[in-house]
Amino acid sequence: MHHIRAVVFDAYGTLFDVHAAMARHAERIGPQWREISADWRAKQLEYAWVRSLAGSGHHRDFWRLTEEALVWAAARHGIVNPAFLVEILQSYRHLEAYPEVPVVLRHLRDLGLERAILSNGEPGMLHDAVHHAGLTDLLNAVLSAESVGVFKPDPKVYRLAGEHFGLAASQMAFVSSNPWDVFGAKAFGFETIWVNRTGAPGEYRMAGNATEVRDLSALTGLLHR
Ligand code: LAC
Repeated sequence: MHHIRAVVFDAYGTLFDVHAAMARHAERIGPQWREISADWRAKQLEYAWVRSLAGSGHHRDFWRLTEEALVWAAARHGIVNPAFLVEILQSYRHLEAYPEVPVVLRHLRDLGLERAILSNGEPGMLHDAVHHAGLTDLLNAVLSAESVGVFKPDPKVYRLAGEHFGLAASQMAFVSSNPWDVFGAKAFGFETIWVNRTGAPGEYRMAGNATEVRDLSALTGLLHR
């Protein structure tokens, strides 16, 4: 990957731990908090894909879909207290970054590589997440799908990175923990890196098409020029 000039990151699940929001309220929610958080994430993504496929008149921003998905997942598990749901939702605005993220971004900067987020997130929620995690000065750009009004894996979203940096897709590495996102980025032409933190089985015929890593600390060696 010595030809790579920029590293483009998915945000939620890749840089930020989406389950940190519900984990913060685990004691009050009880042991099923992990299941509820998984339902929440699944619904958030489902809503994004369905609204993109349904056409532009049905677009809603990712923060609104995150809220709607939480209401559904919580109701499914009997949590309906509106004030508590607001507390959980606010935690999503300030998710922890995975521990290796700051040092990896610094190393990639020291290697002379451009660094950006390319996310379904809307600009406000992304700003809050990046600021809270102390990553603002470690990123050249935070690119939101809101610029094109459709969600990944629509190619219009991946195109934003090349337009920002003036680079061809093949000159950029796209990093995501979401296999569907890695597939979309590969289809668009990026070099792709799948962050498989849970040891999940591969899918989308990624073997041979994407480089699999356990966490982001492997990137420095992979991208050293
Ligand atoms: C994102 C979600 C899909 O950050 O992980 O785009």
